[in-house]
Formats: sequence, structure tokens, C-alpha cells
Amino acid sequence: MSDAPSIPRRLGALALPDDPTLEAAPSGTRALVARVWGERVRSELAAAQAFTRVAQRAIAAGLPREVQYLAARAVADEVRHAALCAALAERAGAAPSWPSPPPPRDAGDDTALFVSSGCIQETLGSAFLQATLERAESPAARFVARALLADEVDHARIGWAWVAGLDETGKVTLGARLHGLLAACLGPWRARLDALPAAGAPAFGVLAPATIRAEMRRALEELVLPGFAHLGVPTGDAARAIDALG
Ligand SMILES: [Fe+2]
Ligand SMILES: [Fe+2]
Repeated sequence: MSDAPSIPRRLGALALPDDPTLEAAPSGTRALVARVWGERVRSELAAAQAFTRVAQRAIAAGLPREVQYLAARAVADEVRHAALCAALAERAGAAPSWPSPPPPRDAGDDTALFVSSGCIQETLGSAFLQATLERAESPAARFVARALLADEVDHARIGWAWVAGLDETGKVTLGARLHGLLAACLGPWRARLDALPAAGAPAFGVLAPATIRAEMRRALEELVLPGFAHLGVPTGDAARAIDALG
């Protein structure tokens, strides 16, 4: 391993570690790893688009300088995540590709944007990556999961900072919308989970769908909902939104 900084000034300097385990894996496993990590390239680019809007709003709204900085950095982080996922997919045998992101979702007003992109997606994403890292054995998959995880915690903080700045009325209004915002974030996971083979390939960073559902439920109940409650947002029956995962 080189001692290059983990965040290079140019994407071309990103390098995955050697991975004999991936080279020795059966062709079916390599194909699965190539497909799943390849699909993540688009999700990361979608996140880059969302954080482009978050950064624009964070600066326009005059949020604290630390939050502006994290939001602006998040755009570059997500493009770097896409490049890391693409590199891993290619290492597993995928043809090099840099797909177009999905069409941007209309996140609605600023609170919906910050809560969906930050508090919900990034907190759940952190839990997902933590679970991935705990089970991954392949050096390349561990490298990518660890690099992504190191940033997602900061990305979640952008959303939580927004919620902390809401007044009492804003928090009550958010509480009433929470179930809908959670369901809208969790819904797209369902199609991806349904398309995964039951066993996954956890050693290579592809979790079994049952593991993902269990980890997402735990993150919702132990991190996301308590986070809102801690900041004075009534969570009501928002936990029902987990049903959107199927
Ligand atoms: Fe990411
Ligand atoms: Fe992120």
C-alpha cells in the first residue's frame, strides 16, 4: 500500500489494494460483485446530485461555516465514492463504465431535502456500510467500504444540524411528515433488495438481503428515530415506515 493521502487531489490517484481473494473467487461470485458494486456507482452519483442542492441551500441559508464546508465537501465525496465503487466493480470483471445518475428526485422544501439526504439516507447508509465492513474479508471490498463509511457520518451531520436549527413549530411540523419522508427514502431500497440473491456475497461486500433488512430496521429504531426524538421532533408512529422495505 502506498502512503498516499486517502483523499487524493485527483480521482486518478485512487488505487484499490491488491486482492487475491477476489481474483480467486468463483465466476458467479465475481459477476455478482461486479453487478452490485456497479449499481452503487449510480446511487453515489445520485447522492452527489442531492448534496449539490444541499450545499447550495446550506450556503444560501447562512448555516454555520462547518456545515457549509461539510455540505460542499459531500458533493466531491460522493463522486469519489462512485469512482471507488466503479473501481471495485471493474476489479471484479465489470467493463469500465461511468453511468448517468438517475433523474434527480424533487426533494421538495429545504427541510425535506436536508432530512431525507442527511438524517435518513446517510444515517441508514452508515449503518449499512458498518454491517458490510463487519462481514467483508476481501481487501478491496474492505478498503472501499471503509472509505465510504468514513464520510457518511459527516454527511449525516449536515442533516442533523439543519433539524437542530428548526424552531418549535418547525420540529412539530417535521414530526407530522416523518413517516412519509422515511417511507419515500426506504421504498427504493426494496427493489434493490428483491433483486439480490438470498446468500449475497458478504465476504466481498454484498450483504444478504435479510441482513440488510435487519440492519436497516435496527438503525431506524436505534439511531434515526432516537436522533429525531433527541432534537425534540415528535416521532409518533414513524417506525411503521420500515414496512416499505418489504
Ligand atoms: Fe456515498
Ligand atoms: Fe454520503
